[in-house]
Amino acid sequence: MAPNHLISCQDLSVEWVEDLFGLVDRLRPEDKPLKDIKIATLFYEDSTRTRVSFELAASTLGAEVVSLNPRLMSLNKGESFLDTARTLEALGVKSIIIRHPDSGAIDRLAESLEKAASGLTLINAGDGMREHPSQALLDLYTLKEALDDLQGKQILIVGDCLHSRVAKSNIDLLKKFGAQITLSGPPTLIPYCFERFGVNVNHNLDQALREKDVIILLRLQQERQHKGLIASLRDYSRGYLVSHERIIKARLDLGDLKIMHPGPVNPGVELESSLVDHPKASLILRQVKNGLKVRMGILAKLLC
Ligand code: NCD
Repeated sequence: MAPNHLISCQDLSVEWVEDLFGLVDRLRPEDKPLKDIKIATLFYEDSTRTRVSFELAASTLGAEVVSLNPRLMSLNKGESFLDTARTLEALGVKSIIIRHPDSGAIDRLAESLEKAASGLTLINAGDGMREHPSQALLDLYTLKEALDDLQGKQILIVGDCLHSRVAKSNIDLLKKFGAQITLSGPPTLIPYCFERFGVNVNHNLDQALREKDVIILLRLQQERQHKGLIASLRDYSRGYLVSHERIIKARLDLGDLKIMHPGPVNPGVELESSLVDHPKASLILRQVKNGLKVRMGILAKLLC
């Protein structure tokens, strides 16, 4: 993939990521490094954190931001995804930040743009069930801030791995930095093929919680659940709600355990409300704050 896109964590080397984090720490927004650059956001799915933080990141660095609403665009008159991108480019847009419901849609757009010798930079803000690289990067940045080194750290990802692009991107990226990953959730939401990603799978959450340094919760993707993969929300939370009581039973105390969630949280379904705001264990607000910083870094690295 062309180096000026951010599409998949599979494309990222440890050096690239370390260079990005160095830039995040050095960046001086007051210098407005993206002055005179036009950036468009094109979100075909709902988003609060990702869209707002990309738009704030771009405008804080001095870019002109065009926030597009696909429902009001000529896509509804038959314009193709490629036409839309080429039109935006002709209007002077240098980069499009895209969220799309289809896994792989952004790769296909990147390939078509390459054939058309386009200079557009594409940033994947989440494609279907596949990848969410900026989320994985901000999660990694937050973990390095909290734990310093990830080498040998035990990270448990709990929940709907099947539908989660956050899980796929995090598995790829955190492994590159030496973390050991275990997945826990119902077998219908973590099919056996996940073991091919080089992770451990333990469907028994009470066992899986032991001796972990970090738990990353995933939102139960109710909008993508069409096949009766869980019996009911109540049944799901009986098996997989991460609660204070469950953690204490499994490991006696919270200790230095860190809890993360990309948001939005379904409180009481995957994570107990008291843990969302837990002053010592929860990194959830830190993730949101770092999201803005890391996305500033991503834009500066790809566009300056
Ligand atoms: C995630 C997403 O949309 O993939 N949220 C986010 O970007 N903060 C996770 C989710 O919606 O479950």
